[in-house]
Amino acid sequence: MTAIVPIQPGTLSLAAMHLRGGGLVAMPTETVYGLACYAANPDAVVRLYEAKGRPRFNPLIAHVANMEMAEQEAVFSPLAREIAAKFWPGPLTMVLPVAPTGTVSDIARAGLDTIALRMPAHPGALALLRTFGKPLVAPSANRSGHVSPTTAQHVKEDLDGKVDLILDGGPCERGIESTIVSFVGERPVLLRAGALETSALEEALGQPLVAREEADGISAPGQLKSHYAPNARVRLNADAPEPGEGWLAFGETPYPGLNLSEAGDLREAAKNLFAALRTLDTQFDRIAVARIPNEGLGEAINDRLARAAHRD
Ligand code: TXA
Ligand code: MG
Repeated sequence: MTAIVPIQPGTLSLAAMHLRGGGLVAMPTETVYGLACYAANPDAVVRLYEAKGRPRFNPLIAHVANMEMAEQEAVFSPLAREIAAKFWPGPLTMVLPVAPTGTVSDIARAGLDTIALRMPAHPGALALLRTFGKPLVAPSANRSGHVSPTTAQHVKEDLDGKVDLILDGGPCERGIESTIVSFVGERPVLLRAGALETSALEEALGQPLVAREEADGISAPGQLKSHYAPNARVRLNADAPEPGEGWLAFGETPYPGLNLSEAGDLREAAKNLFAALRTLDTQFDRIAVARIPNEGLGEAINDRLARAAHRD
């Protein structure tokens, strides 16, 4: 049994003690809950991959508390530094060349010479990073391939007994994972649509992001087609539920079910998405999902839904 505890000075030092000893601690972030361990400890990182059942070729995101920690781990171009200053702390992950002073273990990077870095905006995550004082790698705190967790209870459902402590910071504000952008090549490449709207990034960059499919030689491991999968079969862009299907609505609807956002608000829909999928999954073998506009955050929501619907 893993304990779920509120975030306080006492539980933060307990969490830091577990991390120093090579343990695993689940922490809230503004996107989804992360399963954290000390990034420089290869044994802890192996334990983390095993707890999630995650394939080792899929590298992890290192979380930092401030720019000093970030610059020790990665090489920032002037443009990358400008973007970090504008969007961190926040739901943006930057893929950058590893710095010679980098401490994150090879296994966590899956042997790549690049590193994914993020400064989370959740006060609980920042407090843990400051208390511990070193970078923490943290993938989403779910079983590999399952729906990402947006509450401490979701983490327990997936990883009870496999993690030393779960810090409870309430439901995640954003509800979908960070946007991942590579700053390794000539032009920035969008590797994963996420909680930071691409339009905001493109405005700050003064240029459009290159699509992953169009970028040559960019390594984007871990973007598996089937991911975020509930047990239920998921049918997308539905106009109405069929008999026996659970209904995941968006906007006004005459049918009973769960609604991602009655007001048709994409931000609210993103926040509710994973919890709604988990709830419907416990009640139905089949889930019909209403059409979600593919603009703004809708891009990231539809990406998660397409993966949830995909069957190998
Ligand atoms: O919002 C988030 O990003 C959450 C919270 C916990 O921070 N974390 C998260 O981690 O979503 P995870 O492990 O579920 O997704 C990490 C993604 C994977 O698709 C992985 O392949 C990619 O980041 N990644 C990590 N390092 C990379 C690298 N060097 N180059 C390209 N992609 C990388
Ligand atoms: Mg994940």
